[in-house]
Formats: sequence, C-alpha cells, structure tokens
Amino acid sequence: MRTHVADHPLIAHKLTALRDEQTSSPEFRRLADELVTLLAYEATRHIRVQPVTVRTPVAVTQGVAIADPKPLVVPILRAGLGMLEGMMRLLPNAEVGFLGMVRDEESLLASVYAERIPKDIAGRQVFMLDPMLATGGTLIAAIRMMLARGATDVTAICLLAAPEGLASVDAAFEGAVNVTIVTAGLDEKLNDKGYIVPGLGDAGDRLYGTV
Ligand code: URA
Repeated sequence: MRTHVADHPLIAHKLTALRDEQTSSPEFRRLADELVTLLAYEATRHIRVQPVTVRTPVAVTQGVAIADPKPLVVPILRAGLGMLEGMMRLLPNAEVGFLGMVRDEESLLASVYAERIPKDIAGRQVFMLDPMLATGGTLIAAIRMMLARGATDVTAICLLAAPEGLASVDAAFEGAVNVTIVTAGLDEKLNDKGYIVPGLGDAGDRLYGTV
C-alpha cells in the first residue's frame, strides 16, 4: 500500500479551520469541498491518460486525454457524499458509484447497507471518498469489494487518518502497489469510542448539521 500525507500549507490551513468546533455546517461543507479538490490533484497523479492529437489556432500538436475506461469515483455514504463535488470538479467525466456502509458503534465493524456500483469494473481506476480513516474497517471492506470486481487500482481520499487505521489498511493490503491512501492529515490516535484524536468529531454530523 502507498500512503501520501499532504504537505502543503494551504491544506494545513483549511484542515485547521475544518477541525474548529466553532465552524458551522455550511463552512465545514465548503472547506471539505475545497480540501478534496486539493487532495484530488495528488490522488490523480497516476491517472491513466492516452495520447490525442489537438489542433490549436496555430498548429497541430500531441497531447493527452484521460484514458478509457473512465475512472470510477465512489463516495462512501453518508459522509463521503460531502466530498463528491470537490472530486468531480477535477474529474467531471468520471463515473460515480455509491456505497453505503455503516459502522456498528459497539463492535466497530462495517457492513454494507446500500450499493450502486457496476458488478464488473475490470480495468477501472477507482477513487474512493471517505473523510475519516479511523479503525480502517470500512475502507478495507470497500477496497476489497472494488478489487474483487476487477478494479486495477484503488485510491482512497481521506480528510484525516488515524495511525491505527492506516496500519490496519496497510496490513490488509501489504505489498499491494495498487492501493493508495491520500490524506490531508495523520492524527495522533483513536479514542476508546473509535474517534480520531484530535480529529474533527463526527464528519457526517458536522457536514449535515445533525450534531
Ligand atoms: N468517523 C468520524 O466521523 N469521526 C471520527 O473521528 C472517526 C470516525
């Protein structure tokens, strides 16, 4: 597994504002959206392109276009939905699939409650959106599903990650060069309720004002 922790002052600035408990839901959504667009730039570093010919007003030249089959973007419901627009701004022609996963607050185990993903995604590059990589259970199950359906590689974009979660994902996909985590920040630890510390609280609640 490959891990990329963003190292950019603009990302750090926006992440700090996102953490602030005084940040309102509308502001939280705006910051999350902007952060995802910045992270998407890193996450798409290895996106496949194919050569194309383009005619400028001056001459014909060679360029590139995003290759077929189109990349697949999969927000993990519900909090991943708050990252979708920010991602699609950079990849407007990507296909979007949806995966609803819920974490049992006692066992911390993840299970699928809704799914709208093509059965066969052979040859596709998948970008999963999940703001909080906490225990890693949700992401491991989601990435396994994508690889089992034929995805060539899976990149998960997270706003924050806990070291415990990163280690679990790494152990689950040890040696796999086709699994990548891109995150805006790597925090200290998980608390006994499975929350990231210092974190930002419950990302879904903060996005959708359900605190
Ligand atoms: N999910 C969240 O929304 N926040 C955390 O800190 C951990 C999991």
